Amino acid sequence: MKATLSANPFREGLRIERTPSPCTMIIFGATGDLTARKLIPALYNLVLERLLPPGFSVVGFARSGKSNEQFRSELRDSVEKYSRTQPLQKAIWDSFAEGVFYHQADYADPDGYAALSKLLHRIDCERGASSNRLFYMATPPAAYQEIIGQLGATGLAAPGACPTGSAGNRCGEWARVIVEKPFGKDLASAKALNQSLLSVLKEEQVYRIDHYLGKETVQNILVFRFGNGIFEPVWNRRYIDHVQITAGESVGVEGRGGYYDQSGALRDMVQNHILQLLALVAMEPPSSMDANAVRDERVKVFRALRPIGGSQSESFTVRGRYGPGSLSGTRVAGYSEDTGVDHESTTESFVALKLFIDNWRWADVPIYVRTGKRLPKRITEISIQFSCPPLLLFGEAGESMSPNTLTMRIQPDEGISLRFEAKLPGQTTRLRSVNMDFRYSTSFGAQPPEAYERLLLDCMLGDSTLFTRGDEAESAWEFVDGIRCGWDQHPPQDFPNYAAGTWGPESARRLLAEDAREWRRL
Ligand SMILES: NC(=O)c1ccc[n+]([C@@H]2O[C@H](COP(=O)([O-])OP(=O)(O)OC[C@H]3O[C@@H](n4cnc5c(N)ncnc54)[C@H](OP(=O)(O)O)[C@@H]3O)[C@@H](O)[C@H]2O)c1
Repeated sequence: MKATLSANPFREGLRIERTPSPCTMIIFGATGDLTARKLIPALYNLVLERLLPPGFSVVGFARSGKSNEQFRSELRDSVEKYSRTQPLQKAIWDSFAEGVFYHQADYADPDGYAALSKLLHRIDCERGASSNRLFYMATPPAAYQEIIGQLGATGLAAPGACPTGSAGNRCGEWARVIVEKPFGKDLASAKALNQSLLSVLKEEQVYRIDHYLGKETVQNILVFRFGNGIFEPVWNRRYIDHVQITAGESVGVEGRGGYYDQSGALRDMVQNHILQLLALVAMEPPSSMDANAVRDERVKVFRALRPIGGSQSESFTVRGRYGPGSLSGTRVAGYSEDTGVDHESTTESFVALKLFIDNWRWADVPIYVRTGKRLPKRITEISIQFSCPPLLLFGEAGESMSPNTLTMRIQPDEGISLRFEAKLPGQTTRLRSVNMDFRYSTSFGAQPPEAYERLLLDCMLGDSTLFTRGDEAESAWEFVDGIRCGWDQHPPQDFPNYAAGTWGPESARRLLAEDAREWRRL
């Protein structure tokens, strides 16, 4: 029977091409790396695709002194360097740049916000924009609470706030705030941050970004699972033997040692990106694609994660740190040789976990996760390994059978493959594993948008599905804090325990070998 439109919940939340209402984006941290590498190239590409509203404006807020012209010229250089579309189209850039302004101020200075309010009012009047505001926290996390407090005190983030003296100018309908990762460093700090955000804003005004959720391949997990009839019936403990999630980076800490050493792989990758991937793979079908319906299901996965604490960390987790090694034939230094790294620290650059989700769908299905720096390659993928057939019918030939595996490649070489057994041509029965392969690059041709393009546009449109809700962030921290707590009781004795350019410490191999399984060879 054909599904009707009204019976299909996935249509309800679908975003058909829409243009947001006129607005101004205020970037705190406008002279920083994120603004240059991600935000401005994303905005430029949205302009290219005519997805931004008329009068759209940007105000960059930071301490360095510079003129509007200087700021625009620096941003233009960033687009020429980092935009996914090249070469830069001068006419498009020039018309976008007319709406870009620089505001020099310190986050802690109330006068800076009063002056910002006046500038925003002038932009509203001159460019015909309304007072809709998107505030982007592209700042060091230590500054979030200060900025939120100042926005609250000046009333700048109140939806519909009209700047002083804006008589005759249309008041905006919305004010939204995007908060960058990391969202806290543990449960207590995430709760404190949520409280300070919610003392000024309503939850629906807060957009906690995890750029993994903006990736096309990550969004496709839900379409793959719930837009097809054939996978969902086998997506459970009856048919799935285990799941593996790998997020490998070949880069090291690359001069970010100061930041990374305070964080480590568990906080930097697992608490956000990896748990979000896990939630999409493991969640129940939502009742609709409405933001809260989807986020309700994601948070239920986090709440069902079996805690790993105390002595369990020995059996369910592996920590690692790379020493010197070789990558693509080049010698590379070890973690502790990076600038900014505290030589006394025990921060991990690798983590592997064995997780369980205690609900009816996933009871006793192990989910193995690994992520690390200075691994042999940059790769993120989710692999679902199905159980073997109940009876082996092919004699000796069947003994070498590999289990069916469905792999979602998040990056690079984005796509999905299904591995299954086939008969080798010939007079005897011999089996060989083959792949059925879908590749984004060849199937659709078009270059997918960058995660930040999708996420900025969604925020302007008021769609928070791909952003983390406050309770989601807290549940993820609660789980991760349990592991940290166990680790703190048993500081690592063997760091560095893997050479740069290898797949992590030997204990990561043993984590699966003890269950008679092995990591996928990537
Ligand atoms: N870079 C990335 O690719 C990336 C990726 C994911 C997440 N993030 C997150 O994004 C945020 C920003 O990262 P980033 O790498 O762009 O940082 P960054 O390069 O250090 O930039 C920080 C910005 O904040 C401004 N700033 C600092 N203190 C200030 C103050 N007191 N008053 C006014 N402005 C101040 C700096 O400008 P002035 O010095 O001119 O004041 C600069 O524009 C962080 O939370 C980070 O974790 C970054």
